[in-house]
Amino acid sequence: MRIVLGVGGGIAAYKAASLLRLFTEAGHEVTAVPTEAALAFVGKATWEALSGRSVRTDVFEAVETVNHVRLGHEAELVVVAPATADLLARAAGGHADDLLTNTLLVATCPVLMAPAMHTQMWHHPATQANIAILRERGVTVLDPAVGRLTGADTGPGRLPEPEEIFAAALALVARAAHDGATSSGGEVTAGDAAAGEQLAGRRLLVSAGGTREPIDPVRFLGNRSSGKQGAAIAAAALRAGASVTFVAAHLDVEPPAGAETVRVETALELRDAMHEHAPAADAIVMAAAVADFRPAQQHGSKIKKQDNAADPVITLVRNPDILAELVERRNAEGRGQLIVGFAAETGDAGAGVLEYAQAKLARKGCELLVVNEVGTDRVFGLDENSVTILARDGSEPEHAAGSKDDVADAVVRRVTRELASRAGGGTATSKVDQ
Ligand code: CTP
Repeated sequence: MRIVLGVGGGIAAYKAASLLRLFTEAGHEVTAVPTEAALAFVGKATWEALSGRSVRTDVFEAVETVNHVRLGHEAELVVVAPATADLLARAAGGHADDLLTNTLLVATCPVLMAPAMHTQMWHHPATQANIAILRERGVTVLDPAVGRLTGADTGPGRLPEPEEIFAAALALVARAAHDGATSSGGEVTAGDAAAGEQLAGRRLLVSAGGTREPIDPVRFLGNRSSGKQGAAIAAAALRAGASVTFVAAHLDVEPPAGAETVRVETALELRDAMHEHAPAADAIVMAAAVADFRPAQQHGSKIKKQDNAADPVITLVRNPDILAELVERRNAEGRGQLIVGFAAETGDAGAGVLEYAQAKLARKGCELLVVNEVGTDRVFGLDENSVTILARDGSEPEHAAGSKDDVADAVVRRVTRELASRAGGGTATSKVDQ
């Protein structure tokens, strides 16, 4: 995603450097646009080194690139942090006296402003009126954090932590994408971004799609998973305010905007990516369709048919059970992490779908299992789904049906409830089955 990071001239400008880093590390392209005053706090060299791009503050620089319009046109997200009282006033007044205010006038993408200033400035009716105008126009203006200010005093006016601004920004983009809107307004508090955003400050790791196990450079063993349900879950988690790492095997859909997406091909690559990102996650949702077996041998060149030779035989070896591994490692390391598995089941003469699923839940050791009945005419690639959420604690199975977005919302609501009950119920690890 192309992001413009506007930086106002306040002492908190140094925190914007960490915010920039969070965005670039998540794979986004960031152009820093500090105001002239911001450069008095943190110099151009810092912004250029961290973003890897040249930095300008004035409309009269790089005029040949029509920078004052281009940046705003190209941006998919504008974040202003810190937004000083002066910068808020200039933005509300529609001024265009530097590159940042020009960009704000041109941008039609979601805009998030994170104010930081002294408490009296924050409470001043002029500032409050400017914020009301900006919100009215669809700009998301975070409330400042309360705490120690530059001097000896405390109160509202601190810039929220970079991680909170990062999460609120990604949630804003996800919401805008979901609403199909170009910008989203309203009053949002970082850390509890908006009504219903109960996953703010939480990190979810979601896998989706079908792995592909190479036979030779052109052939693979794959499966019919479209990745739609997993992508919908990642999008629902983003809407709920979570930061999301999305490990994507083969998908028929785009990964959700706002997630940190890691592309993988094979089960072994997916396993590595999940293990790398698992320690930071509050919850893991394994929606990927992982191949249980892979060809024992991967040919370096295309297997040819030879008229006088025997037909080739593909020997398969077992892939690791990633979900079971993640549970085992979580338990061994004593992390209070929620793990959700998926089960694609078919019933047979021996047992029904739910009986097989109960056995799988016990086998895998995760807390929740989202079960759906599959068959060639069911679920794969469709936009509708119907699932049963089974819980390890033996609570009533929960049914959810409708579009894959509806099902995703139900899964995310359940994850939210489980995380909330853990937070309220002593140490998280004490709730983990060992
Ligand atoms: N899974 C995994 N690693 C594997 C296979 C599956 O992590 N090698 C995960 C899936 O992402 C899913 C859950 O395990 O969350 C159940 O997948 P499923 O294919 O239904 O179960 P299997 O363990 O493969 O059991 P079986 O095929 O025997 O029903």
